[in-house]
Amino acid sequence: MTNILVVNGPNLNMLGTREPEVYGKTTLKDIESEMKAVAEKNKIDIEFFQSNHEGDIVDKICSAKGTFNGIIINPAAYTHTSVAIRDAIAAVDIPAIEVHISNVYSREDFRHTSLIAPVCLGQIAGLGTKGYILALEYFI
Ligand code: DQA
Repeated sequence: MTNILVVNGPNLNMLGTREPEVYGKTTLKDIESEMKAVAEKNKIDIEFFQSNHEGDIVDKICSAKGTFNGIIINPAAYTHTSVAIRDAIAAVDIPAIEVHISNVYSREDFRHTSLIAPVCLGQIAGLGTKGYILALEYFI
């Protein structure tokens, strides 16, 4: 059975009202409902996790081993800083896809580096919230 874990990092709980000119008006709940509908249609299991705390994200990824066979992760600001999240993804050895709503490469220089991307299967950036669905479709 395919079982996908969707992890969202800091401030993504604020989607909908957070910098709508950058991230749009879709809420995290909207994204999760849409992903759930696609998962149900394709008879796969999906679980959602959001945290503003690096250690909680590390704990969730570490606990994914043996339960999930794919991870979709938007590490948000931790993309650019977190060796810990990178090491957790490498440790569990579950294929992961990194998603960014905005095109991080057209923004500030500090967003151009992802510490997470090298341990992921691939990265989707700049396609808005549709990126989450595309990542899910890849796993399906
Ligand atoms: C983001 C891009 C990051 O640079 C930023 O810190 C976020 C959101 C995105 O989805 O575009 O919080 O990951």
